[in-house]
Amino acid sequence: MGLDARERLIVALDLPSVDAAEKMVARLGESVLFYKIGYQLVFAGGLPFAAGLIAAGKQVFLDLKLHDIGNTVEKGVESVAQLGATFLTVHGYPQTMKAAVKGKRGSRLRILAVTVLTSYDDSDLAAAGYEMSVPELAAARAAQARDTGIDGLVCSAEEATNLRKIIGAGMVLVTPGIRPMGSASGDQKRVMGPARAIRCGADYLVVGRPVLEAADPKKAADAIVSEIEQAS
Ligand code: C5P
Repeated sequence: MGLDARERLIVALDLPSVDAAEKMVARLGESVLFYKIGYQLVFAGGLPFAAGLIAAGKQVFLDLKLHDIGNTVEKGVESVAQLGATFLTVHGYPQTMKAAVKGKRGSRLRILAVTVLTSYDDSDLAAAGYEMSVPELAAARAAQARDTGIDGLVCSAEEATNLRKIIGAGMVLVTPGIRPMGSASGDQKRVMGPARAIRCGADYLVVGRPVLEAADPKKAADAIVSEIEQAS
């Protein structure tokens, strides 16, 4: 993949305010190059903040999980591309993915598809009207993402090996649910250590609470980077 270990760590800024996020980014300093911003911060002033991070030389992953009619997704993605973000998530529906690929044209934005939300099990899918199991739907959507020209998938580290077989080497796998040794799992049910996730084929690791809630977040981030380094 040709990436430095440090470029492969994405810290999820799951924080309630721009003020809190700015303090965290200042504490992490040069240890963290890539940040994920999701609903919580986006709806609390996170977009101008993201633009500031990009201007300061950081990379930004906007975890917006877009899903709407094709035209709306395409125009929304065009706006995100102008902001200079590196990654954007959309739900893995064929129409949505096609529109997102159109919307990012000519920019350096990379689109990540969410195949099946990790909070869903087979009974949630049945309740939503699907007749497939979670692994079946995830595999089908991964193949559709590949065929549509999507740049990567968000998946658990456990799924990474199987999904890699479907998507090949040309797409990136971005995996949350990472827990370094000794950290609490929180509400994540399926967790994996950084080194093992890398060995399963993850290109980027998304880590939130193990860094944000550490007594020394910078030290926690550095420790994850050295685990990635050893496994790469
Ligand atoms: O705090 P923690 O390390 O669990 O944070 C993981 C981040 O990754 C959160 O922002 C969460 O929303 C996100 N995420 C996830 N599972 C997915 C997709 C995104 O945990 N399937």
